Amino acid sequence: MRRKLVAGNWKMHGSLKKNAALLNSVRALSPGLDCDIAVCVPYPYLAQAQALLDGSKIALGAQNLSEHEAGAFTGEVSAVMLGEFACRYVLVGHSERRSIYGESDALVAEKFVAAVNHGLVPILCVGEKLDEREGGCTEQVVARQMSAVIERAGVAAFAKAVVAYEPVWAIGTGMTASPAQAQDVHCAIRAQVAALDSGLADGLRILYGGSVKPQNARELFSQSDIDGGLIGGAALVADDFLAICRAAI
Ligand code: 13P
Repeated sequence: MRRKLVAGNWKMHGSLKKNAALLNSVRALSPGLDCDIAVCVPYPYLAQAQALLDGSKIALGAQNLSEHEAGAFTGEVSAVMLGEFACRYVLVGHSERRSIYGESDALVAEKFVAAVNHGLVPILCVGEKLDEREGGCTEQVVARQMSAVIERAGVAAFAKAVVAYEPVWAIGTGMTASPAQAQDVHCAIRAQVAALDSGLADGLRILYGGSVKPQNARELFSQSDIDGGLIGGAALVADDFLAICRAAI
């Protein structure tokens, strides 16, 4: 069985004071939770989160990284730098990076490779927009996003990666994909990987993200191909995040 993972994506939220309260609350109750837990925090808070989570079971993650190792890339942050703050995970290709900052499938693939090459576990985000779902091309869009990375990184790299299916229309909107809708796409993602390496596909964790709340988490996580969640808004409220973690057990 794949072990469930619940990862919080704080996006551009937080303050030193709020982070300390949130992380201390989550940390206090995390030992009783039999699932993997991660928090992906804004860059400036990595050191604070590293210190507050030291010795806990909660893993640290970042929300983005540069495809380059070092150099004249003003404003960018490399995988090596993230590693220095004990980051285990890094989000790659979140839909906000793709749509607001114009990250292409090709760039996302480069970032995925940079993460894997430096021992970080990329959480590769894929998902369709509302018009794509309404046009009936959800699986085609997700397959294209997956293929770009598989072709660049090789399917074997997915042994050290996580995939997150996040339908864009469900992010921050309160419109969650139904468990059946999500399961269908997760199943298609796993089948795409299985066509190349079935053993690897069996072990690949595929998270669902998009308006996951304590009220809907358990039903989503009980689907056979849903291996946990990538949580936005609800990850900023300790009780909600913990309730979602409990739903993964
Ligand atoms: P919400 O849970 O706020 O919909 O955000 C989902 C998300 O984008 C996580 O990466």
